[in-house]
Amino acid sequence: MPELAIHGGPAVRTEPYPDWPELDERDVEAVTAVLRGGQLGGFPEPGPRAAEFAERFADYQGASHGIVMVNGTVTMEIALKALGIGWGDEVIIPALTFAATAYAVISAGALPVIVDVEPRRWTIDPDLVEAAITPRTAAVIPVHLGQQMCDMDRLTEIARRHNLAIVEDCAHAHGQRWRGHGAGTIGAFGSFSHQTTKTLTAGEGGTLLTSNEALARKAHSLIDCGRAKDPAEREVTFGSNYRLGELNCALLCSQLDRFEDQRAQREASARRFEELASGVRGIAINRIDDRISRWSFYRYLLRIETDAFSGAGNHRVVEALLAEGIKAEVQYPPMNRYELFRPGLSRLPVCVEHAHRLDTSRMRFPVAEAAADREAVYLDEAVFRAGDKGIEDAVEALAKVQQHSSTLARIRS
Ligand SMILES: Cc1ncc(COP(=O)(O)O)c(C=O)c1O
Repeated sequence: MPELAIHGGPAVRTEPYPDWPELDERDVEAVTAVLRGGQLGGFPEPGPRAAEFAERFADYQGASHGIVMVNGTVTMEIALKALGIGWGDEVIIPALTFAATAYAVISAGALPVIVDVEPRRWTIDPDLVEAAITPRTAAVIPVHLGQQMCDMDRLTEIARRHNLAIVEDCAHAHGQRWRGHGAGTIGAFGSFSHQTTKTLTAGEGGTLLTSNEALARKAHSLIDCGRAKDPAEREVTFGSNYRLGELNCALLCSQLDRFEDQRAQREASARRFEELASGVRGIAINRIDDRISRWSFYRYLLRIETDAFSGAGNHRVVEALLAEGIKAEVQYPPMNRYELFRPGLSRLPVCVEHAHRLDTSRMRFPVAEAAADREAVYLDEAVFRAGDKGIEDAVEALAKVQQHSSTLARIRS
């Protein structure tokens, strides 16, 4: 086998993976129709395209209500506020996620309490959730990560026993289903991001799903400066303006039209990928939980067995894969070492007496740390939208990097 591309050898793949998002005349027409119609903004809330998208997306996931807003961070803040969660409350989140999950809690005025993830699927560990519960705990935010979903059976049971709300962070899970229930429809609220890289995108945007009408009304009110949304016009909240403009909502509608085809394509490719990649030494496939009844993902997570890679960890392996033309990345650091996560700057620790729970220097998350430092390799969704060749190239590159791994530097221990 030729030398690694990172050392000057020929790359396995020279053709770029397909761009994201897929945009064509349908999107141009959708946006043009909004321009011609003249209503650009999200006021009065919801605008016609926002309402259309909310209804169609809620229906696709299996919820009764959708509330569209500016991004998938404020969605979680609004969910917590609608649930009456804020000052003095604690909200449990996983150690492996984007910083937004923690920031939404802080923006709502509550304290994020971070727990480690499960070794096999890298989603929040239900045992650790239960151990972290105090009289102040009001909610848990499970984050469905990679191709997996959190163990929603156990989390639902724990939440019921301790009277906690669940707000699912589904930024990576558009389309996923757990035992027939759509991601984001199992807890009180499900939060979705439509940021540029996400699998259902308008550049920016976020959607909250719920099947509770009163909660949906509150969320609409909170994002619309507190305007009353009940027929008697009495239910005023303390809100702000988080409305999404109609141009973005039109794009969400046109993107939703092809979402299911794209999802099915990624699923078929991922199944093929698992067959092929399970033959590559040093690659552990974290097979999906068989309770996932419709499979959809944003990043596919592989586990590298560093011994089989001559001690080279995920960071070096990803560099080598990128040089081979494979779209891969090392994503989130563990929350205790996440540069973006600076709770100390929020003033929360000065104001809340139980804020020692936010002292990142005291936090240890062995599973999340091992995943982030050594083991987790995220493959981009585009790898699964490039036909058989896209998959075969990724597998060939993984095998090549493994076979040449002695030429990659070892990780620092
Ligand atoms: C897990 C997770 N939660 C929340 C967010 C926040 O979404 P947004 O960028 O739309 O605010 C993101 C991504 O950006 C994410 O990956």
